[in-house]
Amino acid sequence: MSLPATLGEALQLARGRIESVDAKLLLREASGCSAATLIGFPERALDVVAAQRFVDWLERREQGEPVAHLLGQREFFGRMFRVTADTLIPRPDTELLVELVLGLVALEPLSRPCFTAGEATRSSPPSSGEGLGERVQQAAGANDQHVSRVAVPSSLGAERGFRAACRTLAEPVGNAVPAVGRGAGWPEAGRGEREAPAPTILDLGTGTGAIAISIALERPHAKVTAVDASVAALAVAQDNAQKLDAPVRFLHGSWFAPVAGERFELIVSNPPYIAANDEHLAQGDVRFEPLSALVAGTDGLDDIRDIIAAAPAHLVSGGWLLLEHGYDQAAAVRALLATSGFVEVQSWKDLAGIERASGGRVAY
Ligand SMILES: C[S@@+](CC[C@H](N)C(=O)[O-])C[C@H]1O[C@@H](n2cnc3c(N)ncnc32)[C@H](O)[C@@H]1O
Repeated sequence: MSLPATLGEALQLARGRIESVDAKLLLREASGCSAATLIGFPERALDVVAAQRFVDWLERREQGEPVAHLLGQREFFGRMFRVTADTLIPRPDTELLVELVLGLVALEPLSRPCFTAGEATRSSPPSSGEGLGERVQQAAGANDQHVSRVAVPSSLGAERGFRAACRTLAEPVGNAVPAVGRGAGWPEAGRGEREAPAPTILDLGTGTGAIAISIALERPHAKVTAVDASVAALAVAQDNAQKLDAPVRFLHGSWFAPVAGERFELIVSNPPYIAANDEHLAQGDVRFEPLSALVAGTDGLDDIRDIIAAAPAHLVSGGWLLLEHGYDQAAAVRALLATSGFVEVQSWKDLAGIERASGGRVAY
């Protein structure tokens, strides 16, 4: 393939070979030019090194290699995450899970009121007011028949109190990967200042860390733990957390094994959920992703079944479990949640109107 001399020639070379959106992404990265320059100045010269890099990427993309692997990164929730062949490439669909979590966490604890001196203890949700379910629904922009309306816990103390409360993360257990981020540098509570409890969140199967890191950065008062069975994926996640300055505790092991004896206010997971014989495994980007991040038994539900069965023992009273799943698995996941005793079981739709996340909370 001959080397293109200008931006315009490069895009012309890619036409018909790879998708235009991919060609522009690769050319921007190879040339260092902005999207506007690619369109507005097609006559701009391309030096030989940039042209060679672009042609190499073009040929590899033509063979099917994911753009995220060629560039070594993928944007998720407005931030760049390093991606390798050991990790799932974060998908825009999964941003729904993050939105749901942010809708629940806000600046309040998740499942129980934060008690200030003199406040009454509440053992069940109030009967009126903006509900957690409503806030989740709003956050996700969802309008779903399965979304139940539940009441909101009392509001909480100041952000400063939360940040102070989680200035040190719990000691890792199991095969701990050292915590990263700015934990040690968080603000101290002032003399006599009451420390409010920090929301505790667990991300199971963290991959690049996209979910855990996004939550930790959007809700800096939360204590976020992330687990993965892949040492290689965890190393990438740790690297991402370090670069993005996200305080996340990373643990290695299978699902709940590294957090034995611990309970959380919210558990979130995008586990493997593709059936072993699914024809999509032989198509597109997934051919280049680890099977251990994709496949979960003959019906794709093996990991979801395991997580739902074990989750109640790791949730505080009223705590939430939120799961991403396949486009046709919502009803099955809701049934599994109900069978395991979850209440307020519901599903949420993605931007395409497909139920792609389901969840529920353990009863008070
Ligand atoms: C579908 S990927 C999700 C990655 C990331 N959370 C995301 O949304 O981009 C599933 C992840 O679960 C991990 N995983 C698979 N089996 C596991 C197990 N038994 N325990 C913990 N993690 C597991 C995989 O290594 C992979 O990183």
